[in-house]
Amino acid sequence: MRILIVGSGGREHALAWKIKQSPRLERLFIAPGNGGTAMEGENVAVESDDIPGLVKLAREKNVDLVIVGPELPLVLGLADALEKEKVLCFGPGAYPAQLEGSKAFAKSLMNEAEVPTARYRVFEDFSQAVAQLRSGGFPVVIKADGLAAGKGVVVAQDFEEAREALDDMLVKQVFGKAGDRVVIEEALSGEEASFLALCDGRQFLLLPSSQDHKRIGENDTGPNTGGMGAYSPAPVLPAAKYQETADMVIRPMLQHLEQTDQTFKGVLYAGLLFTADGPKVLEYNVRFGDPECQPLMMLMDSDLLNVIMACVYGRADQQELRVKNEASVCVVLSAKGYPRKYEKGHEITGIEEAEEDSRVKVFHAGTTYKDGRLVTSGGRVLGVTALGIDLQDAIKRCYQAVDRIHFEGMYYRRDIGQKGLR
Ligand code: AMP
Ligand code: GLY
Repeated sequence: MRILIVGSGGREHALAWKIKQSPRLERLFIAPGNGGTAMEGENVAVESDDIPGLVKLAREKNVDLVIVGPELPLVLGLADALEKEKVLCFGPGAYPAQLEGSKAFAKSLMNEAEVPTARYRVFEDFSQAVAQLRSGGFPVVIKADGLAAGKGVVVAQDFEEAREALDDMLVKQVFGKAGDRVVIEEALSGEEASFLALCDGRQFLLLPSSQDHKRIGENDTGPNTGGMGAYSPAPVLPAAKYQETADMVIRPMLQHLEQTDQTFKGVLYAGLLFTADGPKVLEYNVRFGDPECQPLMMLMDSDLLNVIMACVYGRADQQELRVKNEASVCVVLSAKGYPRKYEKGHEITGIEEAEEDSRVKVFHAGTTYKDGRLVTSGGRVLGVTALGIDLQDAIKRCYQAVDRIHFEGMYYRRDIGQKGLR
């Protein structure tokens, strides 16, 4: 088969690495890819939000299947555009992709589908939103409705902080159109986990639970990032609870979409929070998480291409998903300054040495080749990922590998996975 993977991060390198192991693969293209994906297949310089460009590329290269990494092309309708051209796509159409593209849409569908989630209200008007704050308690959560690159959520501790967040979104428009509407919701507390299902429209295959580390600083301090590391499985959601949890947060949403003649083929990612009342969905994503995808690909024994094709053809029930009975950890190495303005162009060394441990794989995110040298080109640069017999072993191997890698200004958190040991 001829496959095109869309995206350029660590997630896409992990997908490319896994797809490359399939005997069914004939040729692999990645658009636009990074320094790591260039070793697994052929990078093509088409940006991941260029829908006509991607469709044209799929046709020119006679691609059989497109696997979409990031959310933006899905929200922009890439899956629908490919369907018109009769190219298979693993990723939902623009309508169901609003589960990620609009928080108000997601909340309304969750209520309709009776998926447990925090209580909420939607506002477009600043003074009405502020009036709501006066009638409720704190902390309270303020969310920009649209895509805001993980920065559109504020857990406000008091009235002033909440009012400021509303002012930023509705008045100052710091998120542009994404902040024209806001969701104000009840703040919940508990441990978080990511739970991903590979969906065929009706049925699904469950991946092991995982946990991301969103803040830049150790012990979850400082500004939010795209994710500084992840591990899987997450003890807060053990395998014995997967089916029961999926019956609460995955199945009802797929059924609800099906009833409205929408089929969700792709990854449905439930961002869960385990409260005293049971799991609640904080958000849905419509794609693999980054960096959660990296440990998940390390743990998967099945042929990813077989699994995805079963989903695309609506036959997930005829496919088994085999996963190693081990643990995996990914530590993200980021550039100095990230998540604010960061440096680029520094040479990276030590990846081969890090991979001398056969249970370690270094996935590239923000890397590129310049005059034959591998250099940094993004905020999140590498995702060092290790397998272990258990979480502790995986953490140890991962940090041993990290120690061998170097670039100027390299930063990483030293506590990735610790929450899972407690
Ligand atoms: P989201 O993009 O909706 O997942 O929100 C980003 C982060 O904000 C989550 O990972 C949580 O840590 C936090 N968060 C979102 N919604 C809530 C909520 N209702 N209560 C407490 N924390 C929340
Ligand atoms: N790691 C969180 C996300 O991919 O949204």
